[in-house]
Amino acid sequence: MFSRSVRALAVGHYAPPQIEAWADASEEEGWIEPEELPNVWVAQIGVSLVGFAELDPQAGEVRMVFVEPTVADRGIGTRLLRRVEREAADRGIDRLSLRSSLNAVPFFERFGYEIRSERESRMTDGTILRIVDMEKDLSARRESPGR
Ligand SMILES: CC(C)(COP(=O)(O)OP(=O)(O)OC[C@H]1O[C@@H](n2cnc3c(N)ncnc32)[C@H](O)[C@@H]1OP(=O)(O)O)[C@@H](O)C(=O)NCCC(=O)NCCS
Repeated sequence: MFSRSVRALAVGHYAPPQIEAWADASEEEGWIEPEELPNVWVAQIGVSLVGFAELDPQAGEVRMVFVEPTVADRGIGTRLLRRVEREAADRGIDRLSLRSSLNAVPFFERFGYEIRSERESRMTDGTILRIVDMEKDLSARRESPGR
């Protein structure tokens, strides 16, 4: 799903070889035990996995939000991001950071993330991708729990 999401939803924002390098970065198959991924949330429709998101609580970072392209634009990314933010707020995290791909910047901006910097990131195979560092202040949310 990760690679399908990258190939379908990042198109136009990166050159084809960059998209392929990014999509290939996670094409291993296998089992992962739930205890290995304690801060990952998945979205399902029926028995199908259609999205996932990860929080790194130590770093105060949203590590991933990925949605199956066939069900993009139906609010699944929103629900995943909100779930991660709720967990971060419950853990007393005041600021959340994330590294956004260029295609996802407008999505995160809608939820109050602000651009801090844009830079190049080198993948393990040497491919360079432009990414955007973003941050959101969660303390206001805690002060007014209705939001
Ligand atoms: C970014 C992503 C997670 C959004 O997931 P999604 O389920 O399509 O998002 P939602 O349906 O919840 O969208 C919420 C709103 O943001 C808008 N939106 C979603 N993705 C957007 C994008 N890339 N650019 C601009 N607006 C976007 C939607 O149109 C929707 O607007 P609305 O409330 O007016 O209808 C998804 O496009 C994705 O998986 N992208 C590829 C992987 C990726 O780049 N992830 C981020 C890496 S850090």
